[in-house]
Amino acid sequence: MNATTDLLRVDAVKKSYGPIQVLHGVSMSVARGEVFAIIGPNGAGKTTMFKVMTGEVASNGGTIHFDGRDVTRMPAYERVRQGFGRTFQVARVFRDFTVLDNVIVAVEARRRHTGEAVGSWRNCAPSADIRDEAMSLLADVKLDALADGAARFLSHGDKKRLEFVIALAGRPSILMLDEPTAGMSPSDRSDIAKLVSRTRKERGITVVMTEHDMDVVFGLADRIMVMNYGEVVSTGTVDEVRNDPKVREVYLGKEMVSA
Ligand SMILES: Nc1ncnc2c1ncn2[C@@H]1O[C@H](COP(=O)(O)OP(=O)(O)OP(=O)(O)O)[C@@H](O)[C@H]1O
Ligand SMILES: [Mg+2]
Repeated sequence: MNATTDLLRVDAVKKSYGPIQVLHGVSMSVARGEVFAIIGPNGAGKTTMFKVMTGEVASNGGTIHFDGRDVTRMPAYERVRQGFGRTFQVARVFRDFTVLDNVIVAVEARRRHTGEAVGSWRNCAPSADIRDEAMSLLADVKLDALADGAARFLSHGDKKRLEFVIALAGRPSILMLDEPTAGMSPSDRSDIAKLVSRTRKERGITVVMTEHDMDVVFGLADRIMVMNYGEVVSTGTVDEVRNDPKVREVYLGKEMVSA
């Protein structure tokens, strides 16, 4: 993969929290249009990698390039403008807003940044245009029937779906999904997997995700990076990673692999 096709490139990134070093020089590159999964045991550094890539925390070394641009020191809000969209391991939505208003806020924010028409508010209501766009996004994830309820009443799975749609409302070129199926029922998990696959196909969005459910990872990812203790253990296609003895060692322990 060369520099012209890579949308995101991370080189030797380090991160410490006080005296504790969490990332020990991690490098990865994500090609345009691919689904790239980061996996590894709890505490491996996956969420920290996400935070460093999205700019939520600053790295202590290494560089991050997005779309050919050095974004290493760029603040998170600026990276969003450059095309980053993300969801969190624990869903973050405005709990007291309605489901629809959560999406309207995101659609409006994008339109303001890009200079698209925002329309005028009448009687505290957004323009019909923005409302329609938000409703159609909600319909995409079958949340339209719940549009007028407060977000705090949503089930865990629906909250994750709402967060996904909020990220999509920003029309990102890269979507960063931190454990999109965490805590979900098996049927909700497969719904989310289908949604990610459809999003990538229909919108051509590049996806970086972390995920503990291996069925979801193996079904979606073009390439996988395995991390352990803040280092890269292996990077490759699903088959390459599955057949890498170093990866089995991480998941099964040395004794079980050599037994
Ligand atoms: N703000 C922080 N201050 C200190 N240590 C932290 C902080 N955030 C994370 N860590 C430590 O960094 C390491 C990596 O954490 P991280 O959340 O990135 O792991 P993860 O791979 O996402 O794990 P999980 O699969 O459980 O989500 C862990 O040892 C964690 O305790
Ligand atoms: Mg995590």
